[in-house]
Amino acid sequence: MPQLAYVNGRIQPLADASLHVEDRGTQFADAVYEVCAVLAGRILDWQPHLDRLRRNLAELSIDWPMADGPFGLQARRLIAANGHEDCLLYIQISRGTARRDHAFPGAAAANVVMTVRRFDFRQRVAQLASGVAVITQPDTRWRRVDIKTTGLLGNVLAKQAARAAGAFEAWLLHGETVREGSSTNAWIIKDGRIITHPTGTEILPGIARNSLINLAQAAQLVVEERPFTLAEAKAADEAFLTSTTAPILPVIRIDGQAIASGRPGPITTRLGEQVWAEVARQTGWRA
Ligand code: PDD
Repeated sequence: MPQLAYVNGRIQPLADASLHVEDRGTQFADAVYEVCAVLAGRILDWQPHLDRLRRNLAELSIDWPMADGPFGLQARRLIAANGHEDCLLYIQISRGTARRDHAFPGAAAANVVMTVRRFDFRQRVAQLASGVAVITQPDTRWRRVDIKTTGLLGNVLAKQAARAAGAFEAWLLHGETVREGSSTNAWIIKDGRIITHPTGTEILPGIARNSLINLAQAAQLVVEERPFTLAEAKAADEAFLTSTTAPILPVIRIDGQAIASGRPGPITTRLGEQVWAEVARQTGWRA
């Protein structure tokens, strides 16, 4: 079956799908995006993704008139047309196509693109038992990383450094503070307390992050939203990361140093069970 993409209302073969070369997303990264997990054909946490997308568009004053209902239908139509049960839905909305000029164009219609890519979530469940390694990198990104724009060069370079070091992720440092990963949120656990950087302008408010906080609190666990240092992370009892593409993964090494025993810890393992139970509750998906 050929891969299909959505471009401004039309579903067409991915190989033929394109935007104008003067799309402002290409020229200025003047575009926002979302990545959603689709399991058993159902979109996980659709409403929170949509709410974040709307907030980001408003932050950048990108005008996008489509209502939630019709847009959800278009997304589901693309997923169904691609025929994958388990996949990632990518949504990108730019300010539109216009002659290159930094200031906003007078009248440009937003360009909306969606693609779907098959994704094996079972590997993430398997990784709960093995855990992953992270390295650290300086956070070189701009100062509004709470807005999910396609301007991801700082993230790209950090992820590539992780890849080159044989690690799963790079945790981004501002001085001694761990902010988040290049495409994931960062967490540590100390003395039974679950710690993650607060939202604001310095991290992306992850959808998986928010779900994790809700699940942890429902399980009577203490969550502290506060900055933590690299030294704290290395001395933590447990560490983990969260994102749409990795709803929860234990972190067992940071910059080559083992966290505690160097194996996934008991609280992370328990949270992992809760995260995947929530996925099953929402979508019916099972590993
Ligand atoms: N990344 N932090 C950053 C910098 C991210 O890019 C992401 C998501 C997250 C986690 O957010 P969420 O839980 O909403 O996925 C945190 C997506 C998956 C990406 O760029 O592919």
